[in-house]
Amino acid sequence: MKTKTFLACCACLSLFACATPSTPAPAPDKPAGGKSLYDRLGGMDAIKAVVNDFIDTQASDPKLHHFYEKTDTKYLKGQMVDFVCQATGGPCKYAGMDMKDAHDGRHVHDEDFSETVGNLVSVLNKYKVPEAEQKELLALLGPLKPDVVEKK
Ligand code: HEM
Repeated sequence: MKTKTFLACCACLSLFACATPSTPAPAPDKPAGGKSLYDRLGGMDAIKAVVNDFIDTQASDPKLHHFYEKTDTKYLKGQMVDFVCQATGGPCKYAGMDMKDAHDGRHVHDEDFSETVGNLVSVLNKYKVPEAEQKELLALLGPLKPDVVEKK
């Protein structure tokens, strides 16, 4: 992962980690004549490819795999695809748990969240997602941090 991109992402996540929506926020209006983030990411096929790779990366990361020991990763991938699809302005409805309930009691800490951001950025780079779209996606996910991370 490029250091510049990673630093930009960290800055982005800490900047936006102030609001606490617990389900995907309504997608921002499309810029006039422009495409939604969902479309610019490449639509459903691209989101599925990135999410599948991201969850596999998380579940095999030595620092994080314990979180996923009892997880049905196929189900989680489906939920995550719907979540990202809805959050980026795609045609999906996320019907899963809100972020507080989904992560409550899992003891996810700051360093786990940072490791997760690093994994996501690596996968986004692997799929050659441009920096602007990466930043937009991370700006959508950043505000969820307080619902995911447990204070020590
Ligand atoms: C903004 C960041 C994150 C988002 C948007 C997110 C999103 C989600 C979603 C949509 C689900 C499925 C909820 C359901 O079952 O209905 C979920 C579950 C889960 N997430 Fe996250 N998550 C985030 C961060 C993290 C982090 C940092 C970790 C740990 C390193 C983590 C670990 C898990 C685990 C273990 C589950 C439950 C899987 C199971 O059912 O066994 N998540 N997350």
